[in-house]
Amino acid sequence: MTGPAKRAVAVLISGRGSNMDALITAAAQRDYPARIALVLSNKPDAAGIARAAGLGIATDVVDHKPYNGDRAAHEAAVDAVLRRHGIEIVCLAGYMRLLTPFLVRAWQGRMLNIHPSLLPAFPGLHTHERALEAGVKLHGCTVHLVSEGMDEGPIMAQAAVPVLADDTADALGARVLCQEHRIYPAALRALALGQQGAGPDENAALLNPAA
Ligand code: GAR
Repeated sequence: MTGPAKRAVAVLISGRGSNMDALITAAAQRDYPARIALVLSNKPDAAGIARAAGLGIATDVVDHKPYNGDRAAHEAAVDAVLRRHGIEIVCLAGYMRLLTPFLVRAWQGRMLNIHPSLLPAFPGLHTHERALEAGVKLHGCTVHLVSEGMDEGPIMAQAAVPVLADDTADALGARVLCQEHRIYPAALRALALGQQGAGPDENAALLNPAA
């Protein structure tokens, strides 16, 4: 017996791809409502591309360099690849490009991003260093629908971690990354099922695995 069709997802990366790995692992489950149909990178040497290809997942590289700063033309090429693969949902997973309104509007409501802070705190880069400098006691990560502002848009899921007295940015970042790998598959599941936001109960469960 076959279940309902799984939503076709593209994961966009620029490097390591550990969140991509978490999404691939989740999507391998029989009852997960999405499948990873494409991994796309703007960097030919992104480590995640080789791993995805090794797993038999379709991959593509749309290098931004030959576009010489023409972001609209680069995004048009990315969008064409997504459509050629019949993609329904896009997951930005360490995709280190600022998007123009073109791509954001084309995928409005169907594009997720993961960010290593409790948004709206610390948008942008170097979030773990900035959290330590600010002296916050809680830090974490956010999955949100992408809107036109940088690291803005409706929040789908968040997880918090404590900031410890002797933390380094690397130690804190590793603690946050573990939570990224938990909440991104949960948020994608919710979007694929048409739930426009993980509710408070789900976030509570993510914060407290025993709950
Ligand atoms: C992750 O920590 C992700 O949250 C962050 O880049 C890292 C990518 O790691 N994204 C951003 O900072 C986007 N603003 P990964 O390639 O191992 O998933």
